[in-house]
Amino acid sequence: MDLQDKEMTPGEILPVVIIGNGPSGICLSYMLSGYTPYLSPEAGHPNPLLHSKLSEQPHLSLLEQDLEYLCEGLEGRSSNPVAVLFDSLLLPDSDFGLDRVSPLEWRYEPSRAIPHLVLGKGPPGGAWHAMEGSMLTLSLANWMELPGLKLKDWMRDKRRNVRNDRATPAEIASYYQHYVSQMSLGQNFACGTTVTSVSREESGSTPCWRVVGLQRREAEVPGDPVPEEVPFSLLAHSVVLATGTHDIPARLGVEGEALPFVCHSFWELEAAISRGELDPSSDPVLVVGAGLTAADAVLAARHLNAPVYHAFRRSVTDPDLIFNQLPKLLYPEYHKVHQMMTQQQNHPTQNPRSDPPSPSYTGYLSFPRHRVVAFQPDRVCLLESDSGKRTAVRVSKALVLIGAHPNLSFLHDAGRSLGINPDEPISCRRNPVDVDPFTNRVLAADGPGLYAMGPLVGENFVRFLKGGALAIASDLSKGRSRRHEQMDQSERS
Ligand SMILES: *[C@@H]1O[C@H](CO)[C@@H](O)[C@H](O)[C@H]1NC(C)=O
Repeated sequence: MDLQDKEMTPGEILPVVIIGNGPSGICLSYMLSGYTPYLSPEAGHPNPLLHSKLSEQPHLSLLEQDLEYLCEGLEGRSSNPVAVLFDSLLLPDSDFGLDRVSPLEWRYEPSRAIPHLVLGKGPPGGAWHAMEGSMLTLSLANWMELPGLKLKDWMRDKRRNVRNDRATPAEIASYYQHYVSQMSLGQNFACGTTVTSVSREESGSTPCWRVVGLQRREAEVPGDPVPEEVPFSLLAHSVVLATGTHDIPARLGVEGEALPFVCHSFWELEAAISRGELDPSSDPVLVVGAGLTAADAVLAARHLNAPVYHAFRRSVTDPDLIFNQLPKLLYPEYHKVHQMMTQQQNHPTQNPRSDPPSPSYTGYLSFPRHRVVAFQPDRVCLLESDSGKRTAVRVSKALVLIGAHPNLSFLHDAGRSLGINPDEPISCRRNPVDVDPFTNRVLAADGPGLYAMGPLVGENFVRFLKGGALAIASDLSKGRSRRHEQMDQSERS
C-alpha cells in the first residue's frame, strides 16, 4: 500500500501502527483483524489445570481472559509466561515431539477488528535474508507457523516429498507472504518503508505518537529505474515495536575488519559460494563465532568441502554455548558441529588440509578460547589464545558471525532508555526492552500506548513470538471495551 495514496484526513489518529512486518507483526495483524481465539467446545488440553481454567468461562475469547491467571504454574522453554501459554495452546506437548491438535478455535469476528498499519522495509514476512538465519534453521517447521494456516499442509502442496520437519528460510518467507494474502491482511501492510522517528506528540487535543519516515516507490517515469523516496507522517494512539534485532551485524572492533575478504553476514558467504569462489582447493574459510549462524556457515563451507578454521571465545564445554543447550536428537547437524569443535582442536603442528587427525572431519580445525587480534591485507589472520599464544592463519575469507544489533535510530537515544539496563544499547540477549510480561507495554515509554515484542524483548524463537501478539492484542482489546463501556455510560447519563 502506498502511504501517500492512503485516504487520511489531516490530524486523523490511527489506533495502531506496527513497526516491523516479520512474523511478530503479521501475527499481531491477524489478531487485530478480528481473528479471535476461543477454547473449542469439543477440545481438551492435556494440562488438566489449564483446561479447567479455560473451561471456567468458555464463552469468553482468549483475548478477554485474565492471561496472568491462565499463565500461573505453566513452565516452558521461554521466560515469557504469555509465550509459554500461547505456545502450549497452539502446539500442546510439542516439546515431546507430539503433534496434538490445538484446542483453540479461531473465529472471524470483524466487529472486533482494530484498524492498524504494519510498516516494513521489505515484503511481508521480512525478506528471507533479513531474518536471523538461526531463528529459522533452529525451529521445527510447525514452530514457525502462524495461527490458522498449517505450514505442513502448505508445504505439502508446494513440494512433493517433505524430507524432514525443517523448512528452508526461503520456504518460510514465502509461507508468511502467502499467509498475509490468504488471510486478507494485505491492505494493512505498507512495504518499502523506513521509519526515521517515533516521538510523543503532546500538543494536540489528544496526545498520541507521531511516526515519521520514508516510503520507497518505483519511479513514475517508465524506464527510469531510480526509486523515489516519499516522506510520510502518521499519528497513532498505539505504536508496536516489532523490528527484530538483526539490522546491524556485530563487529569485533579489530584492525583490518573492513578489508574486503572479511564478511559479517551469512549471506555474503552464500554469495561467494554462488560465485564459485570456494572449493576444496581454496585457502580455508575462517568462521568467527560459536552461535548457530556460525554453525550454519561451517556446515555450508563443509558442504562444498572447503576447508574451515573455526575460532571462538568460549570453551567447548561452556554451559552458555548454545550447543550445550540444544537437545541432540532434534538437532543432529548442530550436534555434529559441536563434535567437530570438540574433537578437532588446533594443535600447533597441525595443518587442516595436509594433516587431518580424523578422516570424518577432514579439513576442519577449531580454535576454542581464541580471539581475533587483526586481519591483514595479505589475508592472514592473527589469532590469540586465552593463554596469550598467537597463531597466524592464511584464509580465503573470514566470516565474523557474532550476533547482531537492532537499529532503533528512530527512537530517542536509539531506545536505550527503554532497556532493562538504560546505559547499554538494546540487544536481544544482553539488554532487551523492558516490558510488562502480560501486556508487553514498554515500561519506560514517554507516554501510554507503546508496546514491544519479539527479539526486542528477548524472544529469540519464532515459536514464542506469537505470545507477544496475544499479550498486545488482548491489552488493546480490553482497552477498547473499557472505552466502549465509558461511552455507553456517558450516553446514558
Ligand atoms: C539505521 O537506520 C537509519 C534509518 O532509520 C539509517 O539511516 C542508518 O544508516 C541505519 N544505521 C545503520 C548502522 O545501519
